[in-house]
Amino acid sequence: MSEVRHVAILTSGGDAPGMNAATRAAVRTALAHGLDVSGVTRGFGGLLAGDFLSLDARSVSNIIQRGGTILKTTRTLEFLNPERRAVAAEKLSDAGIDGVVAIGGDGTFRGLHALVSEHGLRCIGVPGTIDNDLFGTDYTVGFDTAVNTALESIDRIRDTAASHERIFFIEVMGRNCGALALSVGVSGGAEEILIPEVPVDIEGLCSLLTTGRERGKTSFIIVVAEGAFEGGARGVAQAVSARAGIDYRVSILGHVQRGGSPTSFDRELGTLLGRAAVDALVAGETDMMAGIECGRVNLVPLRETWERSKPANLDLLRVAEITAT
Ligand code: F6P
Repeated sequence: MSEVRHVAILTSGGDAPGMNAATRAAVRTALAHGLDVSGVTRGFGGLLAGDFLSLDARSVSNIIQRGGTILKTTRTLEFLNPERRAVAAEKLSDAGIDGVVAIGGDGTFRGLHALVSEHGLRCIGVPGTIDNDLFGTDYTVGFDTAVNTALESIDRIRDTAASHERIFFIEVMGRNCGALALSVGVSGGAEEILIPEVPVDIEGLCSLLTTGRERGKTSFIIVVAEGAFEGGARGVAQAVSARAGIDYRVSILGHVQRGGSPTSFDRELGTLLGRAAVDALVAGETDMMAGIECGRVNLVPLRETWERSKPANLDLLRVAEITAT
């Protein structure tokens, strides 16, 4: 296989804080290898449209601290169609691009893997999603920032919950994964954390509120992962109220969790993995994700990142149960 000479960088799917740090590192690492670098705007949508822009070191100045993604992003359903992917492969070839680094989540990696298997392109993924739901990496870029953003909101809600002696059901993002809820719940001292990986026990939740009150608790924070229960936090609150007749408030944190300046952790992780992705392409790797496990940067086949499941850390649930008494 010939050497990679021209790398394209794109971000796709839900944006995540630290994507810019990863973009910056990928661009500058590629330049350090003497490669040409193009940015693709709007993820796979930009690939289909041939929206490429030449990037140099200055193109990524002053972005390491910025949330969102300067390359823009989309969720491009069109990319599920093999005929459209063939168009994308042609656009890349017309532009002389022979390597792709894509920063995103499982949807991004599925598209990337298809480009490799159908068109022999050389592609490496960087995990960028607030959900932390990918196998093969302990952390995804953006997760730590989202946890801290949600935590700040929960701390504020706790103030008003304590003042009014109220029960709050707080919904956090994470799609089908409870990682965000678990981290936020434990660090926010939640009385209960509901995640998609564990069936919700409404009866148990009612008795937790009753016994908590008997022990002198006057306010409660219940963190609900958006995928934990039909109707999310609102659904749980209604089900509990239907049984226990409680007064409650619901707070859905929403997209605030996706924005903001990345934490030092996400900047460092984005930088390490952006560099690793380009190094991997130069070393002749393809169809891999650059991730981090036990503090070490490694490569894992793209397909495994969504096919193999990353188990929820149930110890966090146990510790929350003990420490929120
Ligand atoms: O995957 C990231 C994520 O923020 C999920 O946590 C959430 O379910 C989803 O994206 C929301 O997507 P959108 O911004 O397209 O509404």
